[in-house]
Amino acid sequence: MNSEILFIANFYSIMFDPLIYQNRRKALRGKVQEGIILILGNNEAPSNYPDNTYKYRQDSSFLYFFGHAHPGYAGILDVDEGEDYFFGNDVDMDDIIWMGPQPSVKDLAARVGVSKSYSFDYLKVIISQALAKGRKIHFLPPYRYDNMLLLEELTGIRACMTKQYASKELIQAVVSLRSVKEPCEIEEIDKACNIGYKMHTAAMLLCKPGTKEQYIAGVLDGIASSYGTMPSFATILTQNGQTLHNHDHSNILEEGRLMLTDAGAESITNYCSDHTRTIPVGGKFTNRQKDIYSIVLACHDHALELARPGITYRSVHLDVCKVLAQGLKDLGLMKGNVDEAVAAGAHALFMPHGLGHMMGLDVHDMEDLGQCYVGYDEETRPSTQFGLASLRMGRKLQEGFVITDEPGCYFIPALIDKWKAEKMHTDFLNYDVIEKFKDFGGIRLEDDILITPDGSRFTGEKRIPITIQEIETIME
Ligand code: GLY
Ligand code: MN
Repeated sequence: MNSEILFIANFYSIMFDPLIYQNRRKALRGKVQEGIILILGNNEAPSNYPDNTYKYRQDSSFLYFFGHAHPGYAGILDVDEGEDYFFGNDVDMDDIIWMGPQPSVKDLAARVGVSKSYSFDYLKVIISQALAKGRKIHFLPPYRYDNMLLLEELTGIRACMTKQYASKELIQAVVSLRSVKEPCEIEEIDKACNIGYKMHTAAMLLCKPGTKEQYIAGVLDGIASSYGTMPSFATILTQNGQTLHNHDHSNILEEGRLMLTDAGAESITNYCSDHTRTIPVGGKFTNRQKDIYSIVLACHDHALELARPGITYRSVHLDVCKVLAQGLKDLGLMKGNVDEAVAAGAHALFMPHGLGHMMGLDVHDMEDLGQCYVGYDEETRPSTQFGLASLRMGRKLQEGFVITDEPGCYFIPALIDKWKAEKMHTDFLNYDVIEKFKDFGGIRLEDDILITPDGSRFTGEKRIPITIQEIETIME
């Protein structure tokens, strides 16, 4: 094989069988009543000048229905005629000189089972013809400004209004398909989790007093790049774990502190992993750290015991919060009736976030489509209560869902001060004891789980060390 053919072969090698994409599109057409479904791919995004771009990431719905992880494409599904179309521009000699040979758009379309391919400009012709006939154009909520502008050009809807005009029918159809993972997707999530295992165990080996957080975070990002495409989100690695999404890595690790690492990778096909571990700098937990850690681990395990098809993740979240409240009551930080404390939201001082979210081609899967569609439905509605309002996934679990189980316990000084000053939940919170934990930091433990016919299983080959003994052993 000469190098040119090899290059093109590599271009193709990161996708599923064409039939997978054909079946997904057929299923999508079957879920939308009429009209045209427009799925836009992502373009390159410049960072500091046009040719210097951020690492490219394709739109996940485009990946799901049209497979190709390269910029400059769009796809259409014609619901009424049962036809699919692929749009893109063939490369010219200049492109070949700078980027090497590329497959033709016709070949790319064929690779995902589409027989009709056109230049990108022809998209405008097809959409304007459809609009002239009064046909409905369904599109998903755009989140990139260039695609908002393109939608304005195609449909006449002002760019700033395009999100509001996204098709609810299409959103719900896409969510129903992407929520239930196919075997080929689960295999990819398992691969992403295996990379996550390497990242987190590397962090455990590097977590020594005197090391800069940034060094470890950089090593983890490098591991993700070397095995897959990139980290699945901006790595959180900090000894200030009480800040939930702390992207500051400027501290030098100190003996006696905890290091919280929330990090994941994408597989080569862009499926994600997302794990969190919290470990003692220097390798040994203090007794106080063990007390809080054991409660969070019990919360995590309780979620695993409960998660199965038919149960709402909202009820799992609330049951886990009761384990947290009971544990904190046993330590003297909370008081009163645990069920009442959780119903009132008093525990949210310590866990102001939700138990988990859906995961797949996005680490927060389909968050661009709207959390009220992804994590909630007619039966399970989002809450406005502090803490519970941050639960991204509340609805009934189904076989094939991949979700995270990520309880935490945090001591956020500013929040403690505010609640104490406002005398919040004084029936349930022992502020005198809580005051003594203001220097504690935070603990979060996160694994990704697949809902199976009768329960759940971890994704990935091996579970990242999580018990106190496992962590202290690997850090020796
Ligand atoms: N791992 C980051 C998050 O779940 O928000
Ligand atoms: Mn997560």
